[in-house]
Amino acid sequence: MAKALEGKVALVTGAGKRIGRAIALAIGDEGGDVIVHYRDSFEEAEAVVAALKEKNVRSWALKADLEKPEEYSTLIKRAVDSAGRLDILVNNASIFQKDTLKDVTLESLKRHIEVNAWAPFSLIRDFARFSGRGKVVNLIDARVHGYDWAHVAYILSKHVLNELTKMSAIEFAPDIMINGVSPGLILPPPGAEHGYIDRLKGTVPLKRHGSPADIADAVLYLLKSDFLTGTIIDVDGGRHLIEYQGGPHTDK
Ligand SMILES: NC(=O)c1ccc[n+]([C@@H]2O[C@H](COP(=O)([O-])OP(=O)(O)OC[C@H]3O[C@@H](n4cnc5c(N)ncnc54)[C@H](OP(=O)(O)O)[C@@H]3O)[C@@H](O)[C@H]2O)c1
Repeated sequence: MAKALEGKVALVTGAGKRIGRAIALAIGDEGGDVIVHYRDSFEEAEAVVAALKEKNVRSWALKADLEKPEEYSTLIKRAVDSAGRLDILVNNASIFQKDTLKDVTLESLKRHIEVNAWAPFSLIRDFARFSGRGKVVNLIDARVHGYDWAHVAYILSKHVLNELTKMSAIEFAPDIMINGVSPGLILPPPGAEHGYIDRLKGTVPLKRHGSPADIADAVLYLLKSDFLTGTIIDVDGGRHLIEYQGGPHTDK
């Protein structure tokens, strides 16, 4: 039996490690070819490419710094040149730095907005131009139902991406379906120990953290559907329900 994404080519940003890696491999499991985007994680990206080829799908690694317009403005064209077509874009790469309203700088806000919202949107526009039709999934954050007082530039950039997801869904319909997945507590921030999420899991109604596989499952669901656009799925064990009501925020 044919797999759901056979014959499709996907570009997953930030796919060398962690959640992006899980999404890239899950697309490969469904028969999709995958372009593994990376910035610094060259070796990890090459390892994901090798793992995908083991699944008998095609795969390539492509580099672009999402803070450098001269690099990300050519990414979609380079993807199409490599694979011959592009059907799926998953905007997963992001930066996540600490700051509060007391010390956030314009420079940090601009960086977060460029990497986490503007570059993904720019890739969507290029995807529309080069592919004409297909599916996009943006990785947002369930905390956009409220605020993250300890990562102010980050959460503001994700609010922008959340709105851009819905606006773009309308703008690029009916040919391109644009949806989002908003993770909750999944992995500790890069470099932090695992205890970080164990300490916070009591704030999740389901009393545990999720896994990269939970996120990849939601991305696949959106990629397989032909009647969803502008839908953002919270994969967060119900935590958005608390934050939406202005509930406790233990990061603060
Ligand atoms: N982890 C969680 O629990 C959680 C919770 C809520 C939302 N999310 C969202 O889910 C997505 C995946 O999360 P994650 O924790 O797996 O992400 P992550 O590890 O923090 O970042 C993923 C990748 O983004 C790439 N990246 C960062 N800055 C870049 C830049 N300037 N240019 C190009 N690439 C850049 C990095 O690639 P290189 O390593 O190649 O440089 C990095 O490996 C993100 O959008 C995140 O905001 C995650």
